[in-house]
Amino acid sequence: MNKLYETLLNHRSIRSYTDQPVSEQELNLIINSVQAAPSSINGQQVSVISVQDRETKEKIAELTGNQPWVAHAPVFLLFCADFFRAKIAAELNGENLAITESLESILVGATDVGLAMGNAIAVAESLGLGIVPIGGARNKPLELIELLGIPEYVFPVSGLVVGHPADLSAKKPRLPQKAIWHKERYDTDLEGLIKEYDQTISTYMKKRTNGKETRGWSQEISSFYNHIYYTEVRQMLEQQGYDFK
Ligand SMILES: Cc1cc2nc3c(=O)[nH]c(=O)nc-3n(C[C@H](O)[C@H](O)[C@H](O)COP(=O)(O)O)c2cc1C
Repeated sequence: MNKLYETLLNHRSIRSYTDQPVSEQELNLIINSVQAAPSSINGQQVSVISVQDRETKEKIAELTGNQPWVAHAPVFLLFCADFFRAKIAAELNGENLAITESLESILVGATDVGLAMGNAIAVAESLGLGIVPIGGARNKPLELIELLGIPEYVFPVSGLVVGHPADLSAKKPRLPQKAIWHKERYDTDLEGLIKEYDQTISTYMKKRTNGKETRGWSQEISSFYNHIYYTEVRQMLEQQGYDFK
């Protein structure tokens, strides 16, 4: 197995960190990897805001839904989809910016962010650092935008906590490969595989939480997807200048 593959397969989210800082050099490597990612039309629709100030991290921990690891870890990186530079480019060329009137902008921005964050995670983990992504960045996005001075046409997609792991959580098992790899045509015969995975996750969670958490995967995700859990997303996009027809 090569080193990269080993790093990727060894991933687990870390929610407990030591006080050891992340060096400027390590951060530089992470950000270099963000910029090295492919991007739609080379538009480079990603910006990262790094936060190390203790008080700001504490505020972000609260805004992301009281997630203590956001405050405790030395670095919080906010990954944003960014069409602000595209707006400047349009002005420089006397053009209209129409992309922000289409949902396509959200797909472009979120895809670019996903690829960039994937690189950042791989590099951070290859350096022995731990990470956890923070979708909670969309919990109170209007306040987060205000706090970090985020301009129009830029919106937070996800945070990424980075630090030195205090302990390594157990690696979380994934769905059976057959449930996600469809050969030639999509195979909708998934119920049995999902039931099988429910058992796997239930056993894993029981062990990880000393019997406190026993739910399977389908129960867990159903309890998220039975309501709109981040309610300010549309308002955030409208405020930032997105106007979908
Ligand atoms: C986009 C994204 C957002 C996430 N948001 C959060 C979050 O707000 N808080 C958290 O503790 N974990 C968050 N996670 C971590 C997932 O819960 C975690 O990746 C998943 O349970 C699989 O576990 P693993 O990363 O340990 O393999 C997020 C992951 C992703 C990819």
